[in-house]
Amino acid sequence: MTDLHCHLLPGIDDGAKDLDVSLKLLRMERTSGVQALMLTPHFYYERNELKHFAEQREEAYRQMTRAAAEKGVEIGTKLGAEVYFSPALPHLDLSLLAFDGGPYLLIELPTTHHPGGIEETLYEIQQEGYIPILAHVERYPYVTEDPRLLYHWVRAGCLAQVNAAGLIRSGKTAQLIRHYIRWNLVHLLCSDAHSPGHRPPNLREGFDTLDAETARYFRDNAEAVYAGEEPELPEPIEPKKRLWQWV
Ligand SMILES: [Fe+2]
Repeated sequence: MTDLHCHLLPGIDDGAKDLDVSLKLLRMERTSGVQALMLTPHFYYERNELKHFAEQREEAYRQMTRAAAEKGVEIGTKLGAEVYFSPALPHLDLSLLAFDGGPYLLIELPTTHHPGGIEETLYEIQQEGYIPILAHVERYPYVTEDPRLLYHWVRAGCLAQVNAAGLIRSGKTAQLIRHYIRWNLVHLLCSDAHSPGHRPPNLREGFDTLDAETARYFRDNAEAVYAGEEPELPEPIEPKKRLWQWV
């Protein structure tokens, strides 16, 4: 498996707090069958200066890879970021935030409100040559309320990611994700791991909830994105409302 969204770099965001935790998380990923990781620390345009962020990330990466090599933890890693939505994004040097400097950019949206102008901003980012990956799309109440938003973003060329935790916990969120899968509106399953206890690397458990075909689909897509290639994707299906339910 390939995990494209996790917070394992030491001391850089609300993920691994130091090198020990970072190594522990790397081992957990490896033991569960993850072979490659995209490291995606949070980037907030309002709080982080981009060059400074990239330098800090590089330093944390150096520390982590050196320690992992010393301790014999073998796992592929590349650098990316989880970029909080801002209309300023198209004006930044996005190559510093994209997965391994390639075309993919993981974007987190606000949970509280549908950000105005998002379609325009996503379009501008695409015009710059990037493919937005919308992070944990099961977590935005305005998307749950109207999944046609997600349909339009995917139709416009965005990819969408869901967190394994949403499937593992079952209940309403898992149901929602299963609808998104049926509508071809999600493409990637990731752990979004932050810590060994509270938000652990749980991609294996997430995959275990899926049928073999869906698991292969998510695995192949993640491998392609990790390699900077474009996965072959099915046409999205537009959700329709019938008797107060999206079908
Ligand atoms: Fe995250």
